[in-house]
Amino acid sequence: MSEALQFWRIDAPGQTLVLSSDGGIPGALYWGPALHPQTDLAALSHACEQEVTGGMIDRLPPLSLCPEASRSFEGQPGLVAYRDGKPLYPRFRLEVTDGTEFTCRDNDLGLSLTFLFEVVGQTISAKATLESDAEITLHHLAAPVLPGPQMGQEIVDFSGRWIGEFQVERAPWRAGIHKREARTGRSGHEHPPQAYFPEAGASNTQGTVFAMHYGWSGGHVMLAEELPSGRRQIQWGHACGTRAAGTRFDTAPLYLAVSQSGFNGCATAFQRLLRDHVVTWPKPETPRPVHYNCWEAVYFDHDMAVLSEIAEQAAALGAERFVLDDGWFGRRDDDTSSLGDWEIDRRKWPDGLTPLINHVERLGMTFGLWVEPEMVNLDSDLARAHPDWILGPQDQIEGRQQRVLDLSSPEVRDHLFRKLSALLQDNRIDYLKWDHNRLLPIADAAQTEGIYALLRDLRRAFPNVEIESCASGGGRIDAGILSLTQRVWLSDSNDALERLRIQHDAALLLPMSVTGSHVGPRVCHTSGRTIDIRMRAWIAAQRHMGFEMDPRELTDEEAEVLKRVASWWKDNRHWRMQADILRLDSADASVIAEQQLAMDGNRFVVFAGKARSAHQIMPRPLRLTGLDPEALYRIDLVNRDELHHLSRGNTAFKDGPLVLSGQILMQQGLTLPWQFPETVWVIEGERQ
Ligand code: DGJ
Repeated sequence: MSEALQFWRIDAPGQTLVLSSDGGIPGALYWGPALHPQTDLAALSHACEQEVTGGMIDRLPPLSLCPEASRSFEGQPGLVAYRDGKPLYPRFRLEVTDGTEFTCRDNDLGLSLTFLFEVVGQTISAKATLESDAEITLHHLAAPVLPGPQMGQEIVDFSGRWIGEFQVERAPWRAGIHKREARTGRSGHEHPPQAYFPEAGASNTQGTVFAMHYGWSGGHVMLAEELPSGRRQIQWGHACGTRAAGTRFDTAPLYLAVSQSGFNGCATAFQRLLRDHVVTWPKPETPRPVHYNCWEAVYFDHDMAVLSEIAEQAAALGAERFVLDDGWFGRRDDDTSSLGDWEIDRRKWPDGLTPLINHVERLGMTFGLWVEPEMVNLDSDLARAHPDWILGPQDQIEGRQQRVLDLSSPEVRDHLFRKLSALLQDNRIDYLKWDHNRLLPIADAAQTEGIYALLRDLRRAFPNVEIESCASGGGRIDAGILSLTQRVWLSDSNDALERLRIQHDAALLLPMSVTGSHVGPRVCHTSGRTIDIRMRAWIAAQRHMGFEMDPRELTDEEAEVLKRVASWWKDNRHWRMQADILRLDSADASVIAEQQLAMDGNRFVVFAGKARSAHQIMPRPLRLTGLDPEALYRIDLVNRDELHHLSRGNTAFKDGPLVLSGQILMQQGLTLPWQFPETVWVIEGERQ
């Protein structure tokens, strides 16, 4: 028997979620752009009433927050669980709610299912928790399930690989399930946990777009299903079957965003979510420092005299934090040994790290250190002493000659906590680059809970130490890991051309303040390309800037360029760290462009990167976005010195700054000077 309908609405800036229930699990009646506060929800419900016709059962089963197989739901159920080897078919009834938390119960099976909604910035965070009176085996539990947009034609999600992160994939909505599942124990290069659902015609800057991000680092599943009825459902959860039998199961938070200003509205909702709500900054008042990282300069070859000289040159370029990468511990001369032995290698550092730290500090920098605590080489004292601490079968295929410690074990976590604490206590370290360079031999959610617990304990004990999350570059980037860290190493590719694209697409999730980007060597170590220093410098300056080449290779001219760009970066970081990154719709497929707009809208910087030669001979105008059409903006080319003599016309900026209205900048756009491929124009704008 169905009861009277009840309604609830959850409003975040720019979006409304309306839930309804007739006594069963609530379902989303509406999810979309913000509704008027006085909207008559009963009338909305009438408008949503579903048709019944031949060839179907006599009423459409509810597409609830957890669609139930027991109610003839014709698609993927939100819960798949077993008890004593038998499948469970619960029929939940809504028991209690305060309008944000909804607890449903199946008394016969002794199951409770709770949905929790919270407004976080411009997003809505949605979580589900399942509790069982007796032990069950869970195969799949979806975070609150929402309808996919009816007006959309495409699902936009991401793939990626080492040195090629955040590749945008487009698939059509069509009958059946579009499934993405990360089963490697990390959120992963391969299937980063976010997806965009644009309505037809949406671009970066225009149109209605829906987006979701699942904040979990341990592997997830996403299902976008078009049901035979034409309805669409979107489910997210932990990777299927990765949890041990138990009595309580939580999903991670699923973050929801809706935009009527194209992809950018959702991208900036996620950027702000991470920057302002998820990441906790140890010293928010301290400006983000320019980094120097020695990995691509010396690799495992640590030598005090060489690194001292490198530190001096890095400081002269403008570095404010020196990060000593892999190679300082155990007998780590290459990547075949010593992971797990977190003792300073006295062959390389006879007096410990203190002399280097003193030197770095005298140069005005702080000191950071690389670690990879979750991992172990078989050739290590740790593996020899505790072979039982290693996750997975003995004859497993290794990755980078290494294995993974079982972080679900409190004993292992205690050991790592003690080792890392000793390092942090004995040395003045304000930063850890925390690496994770292999896929798990078995995907297991308890491993992720374990790493979260270890990070939480360390953060509590050393609240002033920042942590960078690295996983062979960008293999673990999500709101879960960022709730315990402050920076991600987006990619091991320091190739500025590749980075231009990677950074552009990663801005669909990541704000500038957490996205590390370094100036690499002249000849890139991962692509073999030789890229001009200006391009390398500006691409690093788009995000959290650093250097990662051997500065001893720099010519005087190259060093001058780096000093100039680093100093520009420092002059602007006070507003840019809080800026939105808006991806521009470029009429020229060879130009990848973005506009970073200050929180108050009064200033901006545009980076227009020329990735390759254009199809046509002349540059096409570049339209800006998010400005006040009525206001005047003074705009100027920051790097006018890069004008080439093949640019012979009178294009904008040739003779100095311009003053143009927001309307002209957004409706006509700017025609930039002709440029070579692998160059970037940098344009500053300020409201008059
Ligand atoms: C992989 C990382 O992504 C690199 O930046 C570097 O830290 C190496 N590991 C060190 O082994």
